[in-house]
Amino acid sequence: MTSSANPRPLRARRSGSLRGSAAVPGDKSISHRALILGALAVGETTITGLLEAEDVLNTAGAMRSFGAKVSRTGPGAWRVHGMGVGGWGEPDHVLDFGNSGTGSRLVMGAMATTPIMAVFTGDSSLRGRPMARVLDPLLAFGASYVARARGLMPVTLSGADRPIAVEQHVAVASAQVKSALLLAALGAPGRSRISQSELTRDHTEKMLAAFGAEIEVEQLEKGEAVHVTGQVELTPCTVDVPRDPSSAAFALVAALIVPGSDVRIPAVLLNPRRTGLITTLREMGAYIAVENERESGGEAIGDLIVRSSVLSGVEVPPDRAPSMIDEYPILAVAAAFAQGKTIMRGLEELRVKESDRLAAIAAGLKANGLTTSETHDTLTVEGRGPDGVPGGARVVTHMDHRIAMSFLCMGLAAKNPVSVDDISMIATSFPEFEKLMRDLGADFQAVNV
Ligand code: S3P
Repeated sequence: MTSSANPRPLRARRSGSLRGSAAVPGDKSISHRALILGALAVGETTITGLLEAEDVLNTAGAMRSFGAKVSRTGPGAWRVHGMGVGGWGEPDHVLDFGNSGTGSRLVMGAMATTPIMAVFTGDSSLRGRPMARVLDPLLAFGASYVARARGLMPVTLSGADRPIAVEQHVAVASAQVKSALLLAALGAPGRSRISQSELTRDHTEKMLAAFGAEIEVEQLEKGEAVHVTGQVELTPCTVDVPRDPSSAAFALVAALIVPGSDVRIPAVLLNPRRTGLITTLREMGAYIAVENERESGGEAIGDLIVRSSVLSGVEVPPDRAPSMIDEYPILAVAAAFAQGKTIMRGLEELRVKESDRLAAIAAGLKANGLTTSETHDTLTVEGRGPDGVPGGARVVTHMDHRIAMSFLCMGLAAKNPVSVDDISMIATSFPEFEKLMRDLGADFQAVNV
């Protein structure tokens, strides 16, 4: 089952130039982490700019279930009163994380070294995603679990009675797995060492340092190792969440492919481990300027200025994948409007996202008249140039918000309208998407189911 209960289709038509300012919402990764670390600190953490989307609200709900006091004081403004590392209580009901791999996996790690039990579940997309990649490494800390076959949710996780510090190498290029282990390490006495060969996003490490954790990052020949000393009290913080580059990506690519566009996207997170899309689009010939580069809460941010550009196909190297892992659907749309071939390598992790994203992108491109090929970890798109994308199809989104938003952007510049079968999942990460894009000039039309 990979469709939502009340699917809402939407159609995008070729639009006039996109213009104006697109203030995208707060970063999803940082929002989840702010709530979780707030609940692990003793006392009150204040958050501004929190992403108020379904995924993050489910994490807020889970923090309440473990006993944290979580309240909203204004738009994007939240307070979390935490009980400290080891201070979480046992939830008295099943925790439903909806569509969110990040929320569920990070929380598994955060409770794994506290002697409590919790049951994790989610929607049909999340119940099909691999959890053993997080749960198995948590066993080393002393936790135990029961899951459906192959480590699928629902999962019952029992935190360790007597947690032990670990040395572990994370074999998958996943920031979620690394982060889950770092959070688990907080509750284990002594020093844990978590290593990874790829440089995945480092928001957990940065925020742990800001909350006063004893954390050290060791550079390795390939990748890095993070050392965390457990059972050290965390101090509450003020977290100002920057705007999400993975949401900005849609307005950014739409502005590049719709002729005559000129769009500003203010105060976007520019952490180098999240900017692979900007690097790639610039290599393709995109006009993307950065103004007002500054720091906010330990993270680099800046304003993006984007103008429609003639793009050329490129080869995207596999080691860039972690820095743009959520951006391949929208990059594939940019590639469709480029001249020449784009080859994207190192994409095996796309197979286990909210959908099998590699397959969903390829199917959507083909349905809209493009020539594309895929292997287990590579996608090739034959670009049709700025005015050559046929469009005309209804794309199957498989409950995947980023597939929905990407193909709607395609419709804004294709010869024929492009529709998607369901936009309801967009609310998991970017509830303002439709309005924000319409305000820039996007021509969206409701259609019947
Ligand atoms: C995230 C890590 C990535 C990314 C997800 C958010 C995070 O997942 O796709 O949207 O916040 O740590 P993986 O760690 O599975 O690659």
